[in-house]
Amino acid sequence: MASYPGELSELCRRVVRRLSPARYRHTEGVLQAARTLAGRYGADVRRAEVAAIVHDLERERPAGELLRLAEGFGFPVHAVERDRPMLLHGPVAARTAPAELGVTDPEVLRAVAVHTTGAAPMSLLDQVIYLADYIEPGRDFPGVAELRRLAERDLRGACLAATEATLRYVLSRRELIHPRTVEARNWLLSGLGEPEGTRLAEPE
Ligand SMILES: [Fe+2]
Ligand SMILES: [Fe+2]
Repeated sequence: MASYPGELSELCRRVVRRLSPARYRHTEGVLQAARTLAGRYGADVRRAEVAAIVHDLERERPAGELLRLAEGFGFPVHAVERDRPMLLHGPVAARTAPAELGVTDPEVLRAVAVHTTGAAPMSLLDQVIYLADYIEPGRDFPGVAELRRLAERDLRGACLAATEATLRYVLSRRELIHPRTVEARNWLLSGLGEPEGTRLAEPE
């Protein structure tokens, strides 16, 4: 199935209308990082491009609307999501993108849905988008350079480090932790069900 039947530039034009300039710059950064990671680890580059462009489609929708949309789609809205409705922007975008953007590829929509919390398991594409969102060139936080270096050889290890950094951040703010993030962290750490190719061979 074609991940998106049209030109990527057309998809970008539709998404740019939904985002602030700063958010769209972030999306362009995620696109760049996702292309690099997909190429490096053998994920489908076109799917990674489409998922990167779409991933924050609903990021600027007000909390009340995200909750209402999620309920309308029949999601089981978790107590943590009621407290932090922003966490719903991935799952909601995965449901609005088909009608709004014509993106219907299930693998792409899954990567969009899980980019906020992570999930267990995570496909190669899920990991590419999750990590690209974290380390895109516009990100600047303590530890990002180390994470970018790790991302050059160990996709899964870098996703694990990103998930653990997220958990530390949420703990430091005494916010509720989404159980999917804990599940993602445990799955990434356990090494179970690892998709092919998330680690590159050490150079000789
Ligand atoms: Fe996001
Ligand atoms: Fe993002």
